[in-house]
Amino acid sequence: MNRKKNLKVSIVMGSQSDFKIMKLTKDILKKLGVPLETKIVSAHRTPIRMYKFASEAEKNNIGVIIAGAGGSAHLPGMIAALTQLPVLGVPIESKKLKGLDSLLSIAQMPKGIPVGTLAIGEDGAINAAILAASIIAIYNPTVKAKLKSWRDSQTKSVKKTPK
Ligand code: RP5
Repeated sequence: MNRKKNLKVSIVMGSQSDFKIMKLTKDILKKLGVPLETKIVSAHRTPIRMYKFASEAEKNNIGVIIAGAGGSAHLPGMIAALTQLPVLGVPIESKKLKGLDSLLSIAQMPKGIPVGTLAIGEDGAINAAILAASIIAIYNPTVKAKLKSWRDSQTKSVKKTPK
């Protein structure tokens, strides 16, 4: 139980070029007090690094994996195939197909190996952090309290009338 209290979120991405979006995930998790790490892990360019990362994730005190990838985005699904930890996928906008290719390859996993799929780009990166924090909050009361106050202040920030 004590060990579970310190579980971290691992944010991985297929390329350095994904970090301008995945930095949003990192920033929100930091605000919510969630222990985290960030890594570049590519399914096709560094397959051995990906295999080692995913197969050892649980013993490395990781509670949730967030994987951002663009193009024919097989990274989240391949990681999910190698671990029983929850894997959240963030489709990164691709140049040619605006991220629709990334979204479909992450969301349309065949039955048996699920990937929790978020929206394309910024919204998905931010929501992945909030969703991961809510999973971590099951065991971590500090994160639970921060998440509650973050959501309360979001609710308060919505004005009743437009100007
Ligand atoms: C994927 O290919 C990455 O996730 C990235 O979104 C996309 C393009 O990568 P770069 O060519 O910019 O390195 O592996």
